Amino acid sequence: VYEAVIQVERHATTRVSVGAGAIRTLATAWPAGRGRAFVVADRNVLDLHGRTVDAALKGIAREVLAVAIPGGERAKTRAALARLQDALLAARVERSDVVVALGGGVTTDLAGFAAATCLRGLRWVAVPTTLVGMVDAAIGGKTGVDAAAGKNLVGAFHWPERVVADTDFLATLPPEQVRQGLAEMLKHAVVGDADMLDAIEREAHDLAKGDPPSGDLVARAAAVKVAVVSRDPFEQGERRVLNLGHTVGHAIEAATRFATSHGDAVSTGLVVELRVAERRLGFPVAEALRISDLLSFVGLPTRPQCAFRSAARFLQADKKTLAGAVRLALPRRPGEMEKAGGEWAIPVPHDAIEGCWHD
Ligand SMILES: NC(=O)c1ccc[n+]([C@@H]2O[C@H](COP(=O)([O-])OP(=O)(O)OC[C@H]3O[C@@H](n4cnc5c(N)ncnc54)[C@H](O)[C@@H]3O)[C@@H](O)[C@H]2O)c1
Ligand SMILES: [Zn+2]
Repeated sequence: VYEAVIQVERHATTRVSVGAGAIRTLATAWPAGRGRAFVVADRNVLDLHGRTVDAALKGIAREVLAVAIPGGERAKTRAALARLQDALLAARVERSDVVVALGGGVTTDLAGFAAATCLRGLRWVAVPTTLVGMVDAAIGGKTGVDAAAGKNLVGAFHWPERVVADTDFLATLPPEQVRQGLAEMLKHAVVGDADMLDAIEREAHDLAKGDPPSGDLVARAAAVKVAVVSRDPFEQGERRVLNLGHTVGHAIEAATRFATSHGDAVSTGLVVELRVAERRLGFPVAEALRISDLLSFVGLPTRPQCAFRSAARFLQADKKTLAGAVRLALPRRPGEMEKAGGEWAIPVPHDAIEGCWHD
């Protein structure tokens, strides 16, 4: 099991454990002496893995209570947040209690935000059960819900005391959800761990069948995010590198009215942005092809799901740059993101992105 401690603030840390059987480390650094544990999960996850978590909490928490929430992105709303807050308050939650968010990114975002807001801040533990959750959503302290104006627009930084990602939970995850996480995993390899590409290639045949990645590979991908957020816990600069593939990806999601899933959009966004990196920063062409082949081998798309023209109006313009340009965080080579003039993103004109839309 991979272990890391993120120094969030001078007196606050988050201890992260990732790997097969990691749930057994839940007792390590349990944040509340004799507090109760409120396990927040959707019905599906509660049925599949609730008992394992209960067993792991036995003898740690004074009492374990389950709080069921609806699942899926459509449930990540302020209405669902209010219902969860009310459920916690009705159970007379106290400052000595701990919220345990068990599930994918929707659950950790929502339950983490409920923890941030109930009684002005409860301690919480993230137990991600999806690949996206383990390598991305549960690590980094961001919590929140969606609003009519857009996703994740209402939220707060509220770091969990613990992140416990037991990769054995991935055994029940549908292949489609595994695939979504592979896009983020590959992104993390490009952002901060070039050798991880070899490790992904070694597992590529199993991944192409829909099997989840090994615990070691998940831990390695999580470690990239841990490293970046450790250096920038409140998103003041370097975290921008985690946006690789996402500027173009978000524009594609929006332009296709979210008919394209996030992972699929990030996959093609990554391919397009790597072509930009080839031309602007001399990113090795052979490596870009290798990454694109790997994405496609594990079942992810590599051709943009819409024309550049429809995506263009959703490309986030940056106030600091001229109209018609976006700022992209780009790699110079696998595992090495470019930093120029103290900035982690460089301005790229729209037509340069258009020129990279297709190979
Ligand atoms: N806070 C952050 O930094 C951050 C980062 C990335 C993504 N996110 C958020 O994460 C969300 C996406 O998360 P997600 O991809 O994990 O999807 P999700 O949370 O919607 O979970 C997907 C589905 O998988 C099911 N599921 C979860 N674990 C399972 C398991 N082990 N076995 C079987 N089924 C299981 C759930 O019931 C759910 O229906 C988005 O809302 C996104 O905004 C947040
Ligand atoms: Zn993403």
